[in-house]
Amino acid sequence: MINYMLDGKKALVTGGTRGIGREIVLAMARCGADVAFTYRSSREHADSLVAELESMGRIGLALQSDAADSAGSAAAVQTVIERFTRLDILVNNAGITKDNLLMRMSEDEWDDVIATNLKSVFNFTKAASRQMMSQRAGKIVNITSVVGVIGNAGQSNYVASKAGVIGFTKSIAKELSSRNIQVNGVAPGFVDTDMTHGLNDKQKEAILSVIPMKRTAQPAEIAEVVCFLASSGANYMTGQILCVDGGMAM
Ligand SMILES: NC(=O)c1ccc[n+]([C@@H]2O[C@H](COP(=O)([O-])OP(=O)(O)OC[C@H]3O[C@@H](n4cnc5c(N)ncnc54)[C@H](OP(=O)(O)O)[C@@H]3O)[C@@H](O)[C@H]2O)c1
Repeated sequence: MINYMLDGKKALVTGGTRGIGREIVLAMARCGADVAFTYRSSREHADSLVAELESMGRIGLALQSDAADSAGSAAAVQTVIERFTRLDILVNNAGITKDNLLMRMSEDEWDDVIATNLKSVFNFTKAASRQMMSQRAGKIVNITSVVGVIGNAGQSNYVASKAGVIGFTKSIAKELSSRNIQVNGVAPGFVDTDMTHGLNDKQKEAILSVIPMKRTAQPAEIAEVVCFLASSGANYMTGQILCVDGGMAM
């Protein structure tokens, strides 16, 4: 693994306890950053991740906070700034699925997914960019999905949320570019996490058949690209969405 230089950087990752978020937290710490992360309910995972960060010689800060809640999200960002004195990197990663065909999809399934996956990105970006604007520097990386680019039957709520994140990323990149804040997105394909473990063999076979590389991704393969976008190596990139998808979207 390449280690991008994030020495002394202060980062915040939403949804850091499991899956892709956890790998992003660990990868950033390996690159030299102190890392705060939020989670919704998995306290034990949060505690063990903080211990792992501390064993690496980094500061780890776990915050229980529902990313869909505006006031709670603003308070979480404030806590991070008070503890770290600055905020260099925000990764909007928290996300859920509640899949259903449109005709069977309930209003709650629609609302929950939009609030957790899209409104959360507004919540955290607004709170963090205030600090980054005063610093005149910052990197924001939004985790979207390849299905937000190409669509997917049975996931209209999720796809709408992820396509929304893509539009939001490009708009905010334009708004914040003059303040030296770069805003980019990563669109993973199918990644081996709790989110995809519930798929049955038939669904997995169908997915593999549309991936040119014929395999799913490991969370670390997504984290690597996030670290690149958060590093000075990506200083001249903004408003971009990088598909990390084994060739699915091409
Ligand atoms: N897995 C894939 O194939 C795939 C593909 C493309 C994009 N993505 C995107 O990548 C991101 C991470 O997915 P994943 O597969 O790693 O999911 P995951 O394994 O299910 O982990 C989700 C993480 O988000 C947190 N979270 C969920 N709802 C939250 C909320 N309301 N507030 C705060 N934290 C919340 C969870 O916290 P708790 O542990 O407390 O529940 C957990 O840490 C998501 O945005 C997802 O849409 C995933």
